[in-house]
Amino acid sequence: MQTVFVTGANRGLGLEFVRQYRRAGWHVIAACRRPKEAFQARDWGAELLELDVQDDRAIRALPQTLRDYKIDLLINNAGYHSGYAPLGSLDYSTWQTAFHINVIAPLQVAEALLPLIPNGAKIVNIGSRRGSNGCNLDGGVYLYRATKAALHSITRSMAMDLATRDIFVVALHPGWVKTDMGTSGAEIDVEESVSGMRNVIANLASHNTGRLFNYDGSELPW
Ligand SMILES: NC(=O)c1ccc[n+]([C@@H]2O[C@H](COP(=O)([O-])OP(=O)(O)OC[C@H]3O[C@@H](n4cnc5c(N)ncnc54)[C@H](OP(=O)(O)O)[C@@H]3O)[C@@H](O)[C@H]2O)c1
Repeated sequence: MQTVFVTGANRGLGLEFVRQYRRAGWHVIAACRRPKEAFQARDWGAELLELDVQDDRAIRALPQTLRDYKIDLLINNAGYHSGYAPLGSLDYSTWQTAFHINVIAPLQVAEALLPLIPNGAKIVNIGSRRGSNGCNLDGGVYLYRATKAALHSITRSMAMDLATRDIFVVALHPGWVKTDMGTSGAEIDVEESVSGMRNVIANLASHNTGRLFNYDGSELPW
């Protein structure tokens, strides 16, 4: 049985990854801040793990906590978006939190889990089209764009560094999805987004590692 480790697994896209990978017969380690409240993930048969991705100590403990597992797929999904303040009214008080959750934590989690990640495994960082400089034709969204662009950069370096072990690393844009972050006015639902991303993940190999893909499999510019 294959094992997937998902952060932010209690709601939104993370929870849908739990649902779909469980349905596909995977062992799912569902990491979230309040596992006692993650009723749906538990009902679907996931193994719940308490993890605030801003908690350095908890991240450093992961290899010991999960020592009996190998992680075939890591999905760095937990994310933070503080809103749309325009230029001239930016609120810098949230920048450190955003960079911690969206940039530092995914790298820290991947580094911590590396001893448990076998050759041939996959690492997926949930990035965003908003973090693509090539797609940025309308400006604004300074903080969120900056964090996801940084995450994309990390993704590329990890892909290069792990290529010799055939560990494939990509960033995925989930689409504009109906979640708390995406809002109910978004374009697609979590089922369509995650089934698309699972398809992309299933097709990852040496020829397409280190790239940014949309949920539908099309490639996006950095
Ligand atoms: N929805 C979209 O349209 C869209 C588009 C592009 C990219 N994305 C990306 O997709 C990913 C999932 O977003 P979503 O739409 O599912 O958002 P969401 O419904 O708002 O869920 C965010 C998830 O991140 C978790 N999280 C936040 N801070 C955390 C922390 N310090 N430690 C652990 N977990 C933490 C939340 O946990 P709590 O419940 O504990 O807060 C929640 O599970 C994010 O990386 C987001 O940037 C989303």
